[in-house]
Amino acid sequence: MENMHVKNANGKLGVLVIGVGGAVATTFIAGTMITRKGLGVPVGSISQLATIRLGKREENRFPKIKDVVPLADLNDIVFGGWDIFEEDAYAAACHAEVLTPEDLNKVKNELQAIKPMKAVFDQNFVKRLHGVWVKQAPTKWDLMEEVRKDIRNFKADNNLDRVVCIWCGSTEVFTPISEVHQSLPALEKAMKENSSEIAPSMIYAYAALAEGIPYINGAPNLTVDMPAIWDFSAKQQTPICGKDFKTGQTMLKTVLSPMLKTRMLGLSGWFSTNILGNRDGEVLDDPGSFKTKEESKLSVIHNILQPDLYPQLYGDVYHKVRINYYPPRKDNKEGWDNIDIFGWLGYPMQLKVDFLCRDSILAAPLCLDLVLFTDLAKRCGMSGIQSWLSFYFKSPMHDNEHIAEHDLFIQYVKLKNTLRRIIGEPTVDFID
Ligand SMILES: NC(=O)c1ccc[n+]([C@@H]2O[C@H](COP(=O)([O-])OP(=O)(O)OC[C@H]3O[C@@H](n4cnc5c(N)ncnc54)[C@H](O)[C@@H]3O)[C@@H](O)[C@H]2O)c1
Repeated sequence: MENMHVKNANGKLGVLVIGVGGAVATTFIAGTMITRKGLGVPVGSISQLATIRLGKREENRFPKIKDVVPLADLNDIVFGGWDIFEEDAYAAACHAEVLTPEDLNKVKNELQAIKPMKAVFDQNFVKRLHGVWVKQAPTKWDLMEEVRKDIRNFKADNNLDRVVCIWCGSTEVFTPISEVHQSLPALEKAMKENSSEIAPSMIYAYAALAEGIPYINGAPNLTVDMPAIWDFSAKQQTPICGKDFKTGQTMLKTVLSPMLKTRMLGLSGWFSTNILGNRDGEVLDDPGSFKTKEESKLSVIHNILQPDLYPQLYGDVYHKVRINYYPPRKDNKEGWDNIDIFGWLGYPMQLKVDFLCRDSILAAPLCLDLVLFTDLAKRCGMSGIQSWLSFYFKSPMHDNEHIAEHDLFIQYVKLKNTLRRIIGEPTVDFID
């Protein structure tokens, strides 16, 4: 098999995080810094820990992905970003209370050096937050130009070879896709006319793509889920991926649903509820932002179980998802699932899952992998929706001609096979 032409990862990689003062962002950044100093293990990161089988099983070749795939070195990463609050990444990480002061102090100086750039923010899209460190400009198009300037300055000031942009910002209010999102000229016109249908996240995404920078969408916002941006990313030969990190409850759904389906066990109901006390929980307490999250969380089961093919088993599933803001738990989310299933002759049974997780601890390794893999994709000349990265998302992006794959293990095979293709190795049809 021919090696894909991959530009090498020489030079520095800039990582621009939108929402750089958030819990996920600061946990990702601090954890990467701690890891590269050899002071912590990046648990949960496929790019850093997983192996990949190459060749036939009997050859017994299982190198680490990072040893055979030309990924950027963690020491070459430079972080920056935007937030609606001015505090530096150290102060923000202390507020987030995810990592201990002891851990944060290991990289205190480096974190303090990350000062957020002023954000593009509009409170109509995140009702529960009041932005104070915010850009002002006459139109959304002008704001986009400001973001482009920020990107160029960041690149020049830090002598960077490449940049990747990742949204770790708050979940915006649900914005239905309309006429203005259907084509690039319509989108550009709407930005110039200050249309209320242009969310801040779309402004960042457009600016990143205009600079030829990959855009990763970690929230359920529809930011890059529109024909205008698909076209733009193809035109700019720049990858996009999203949406909504698949970390806790939904990850479990995409493992348990295939289990039920492969055994032809029926499902009558799935009730999921969460308590969460961080700022994300507060934002999601607003019905508009919750609607965006709900849409993202609901599609999973239906897609995997294919009720059209199996009406007797999955034709009448009651699926409900709730998120409750409960401050005492901070970032330590508790997610309960009650799953009503049925077996032989329709006899009912129940499954209960109680996942006492840590939201940002689960999300941080996904950020690292996505940053490294989208940078790789860009260096391979890949553009448009990166469906091989669906593994990382609750609601994987797809265009109007394709459907998304949700099964975690099918997604994993696809991820690894894409890596194999990139390095010129034969693909493998099963999990290794
Ligand atoms: N942690 C998880 O497991 C997980 C899983 C899936 C998705 N997510 C999503 O990731 C995002 C981040 O989560 P979090 O827990 O870090 O939330 P957070 O509230 O701690 O962080 C969000 C940050 O974004 C900033 N922000 C909001 N609007 C902005 C804008 N327009 N420009 C720049 N900055 C802006 C906020 O000030 C805040 O610092 C959320 O959208 C969340 O839904 C998280």
